[in-house]
Amino acid sequence: AIEALIFDLDGVLADTAHLHHAAWKRLAGELGLPWDDDIGERLKGVDRATSLDLVLGEAAGKYSAEQKQQFADRKNGYYREAIGTFSARDLLPGALAALTAARSAGLKIALASASRSAGELVERMGIAEFFDHVVDASTLARAKPDPEIFRRAAAALGVPPARCLGIEDAQAGVAAIKSAGMAALGIGDARVLRDADAVLPDLTSFELGKFLAPA
Ligand code: G6P
Ligand code: MG
Repeated sequence: AIEALIFDLDGVLADTAHLHHAAWKRLAGELGLPWDDDIGERLKGVDRATSLDLVLGEAAGKYSAEQKQQFADRKNGYYREAIGTFSARDLLPGALAALTAARSAGLKIALASASRSAGELVERMGIAEFFDHVVDASTLARAKPDPEIFRRAAAALGVPPARCLGIEDAQAGVAAIKSAGMAALGIGDARVLRDADAVLPDLTSFELGKFLAPA
């Protein structure tokens, strides 16, 4: 049976996926790089440095490590500006109800976000107290789709991966959950999140009871 829920943040609980997307698109425009909105799906869940490499594409080799750091910092500045006014209003529909239901059911809850802004965002949105553990993204060696972040969350909660449900809106995130040995709930488009065990369009249709029964 499921004993813990491990949530991604951006695009699952917080309405930020489009802001990361817009910040990268702005940087790409300034650098005169081609932009295809399809890249947005591949950027989801991926850490900042890896995202930059995807955005630079073939141009990646033209820039020094120092220039790349500046580009990543610039994107982060645009993103930070966009979330500067975030509050509980920016929670995605169903997020608060899902967290509340999990807590009432006595489940452990962790946050597994690759974002360095995750801790601040959950504070601003008023949901910090729901989490028994928040993984510190700055301490990770490997980005999603590597399972490290989900394994770390489960270990911190003291729950075996087989009894955790990971919740993700990104292909890279679903892959990370599955390779951590957990059940994956995808949030978004079932055609995109093919490897998830179940997919919902958003958390408003989340029914905790469906996931608690022993498999
Ligand atoms: C999440 C988002 C990604 C973002 C990553 C790093 O996974 O889905 O779009 O690139 O976090 O975020 P950061 O705020 O640290 O640049
Ligand atoms: Mg996400």
